[in-house]
Amino acid sequence: MGSQWSRDKVYIRAKHEGFRSRASYKLIEIQKKFEVIRNDDNIIDLGAAPGSWLQVLRTLTNGRVLGIDLNPIAALEGVETIEGDLTDPEIQRQAREMLGTVSIVVCDAAPKLSGHKSYDQARAIALGEEALQFACQVLKPGGNFIIKSFQGEDFPELLALIREHFYAVKTYNTKATRKGSTEIYIIAKNFKG
Ligand SMILES: C[S@@+](CC[C@H](N)C(=O)[O-])C[C@H]1O[C@@H](n2cnc3c(N)ncnc32)[C@H](O)[C@@H]1O
Repeated sequence: MGSQWSRDKVYIRAKHEGFRSRASYKLIEIQKKFEVIRNDDNIIDLGAAPGSWLQVLRTLTNGRVLGIDLNPIAALEGVETIEGDLTDPEIQRQAREMLGTVSIVVCDAAPKLSGHKSYDQARAIALGEEALQFACQVLKPGGNFIIKSFQGEDFPELLALIREHFYAVKTYNTKATRKGSTEIYIIAKNFKG
């Protein structure tokens, strides 16, 4: 089965099942394997547009779900959104004001690619570090954090930083990730606070 075929198949399945993107299956897979989210968790989703993770999150918890993205997120029932930069202190303040502290932060954010591999990787890691800093501000002790990253020379540094703040940290390549991608998810459980 070629990658193009797989891509089409996953895309068609996502559309058929009413998801806004194929990314939904990555979160479903992570949740199935790691049981990160409980049914009363309040959750912040960073880099949430177009909103397929928000759709999945809405089914996993009865708590509040807030999505933040540079791009607008079309309305979803039972989901709050903020349009803005996740690294902007004002946006972070708004999120804290809306939800207070939360049990879960997820981050599927990725900067726009320039095509220069090492530059793109460094920017993705820098964004990951900003997301981690924000997660450390809003998570309750014992909370969980899922973040997408990209393997490369700066990746171990981000992973080490996350390990400083969480008791249990694992990495995971989802089956729904496109073939040849350096994408990798970090599943960090039990925030030290
Ligand atoms: C792969 S998409 C996320 C897909 C989403 N998880 C879903 O399931 O629909 C990555 C998103 O990260 C967002 N992003 C990148 N940098 C950001 C930033 N600094 N602040 C907020 N969002 C950002 C992009 O606008 C883009 O929508």
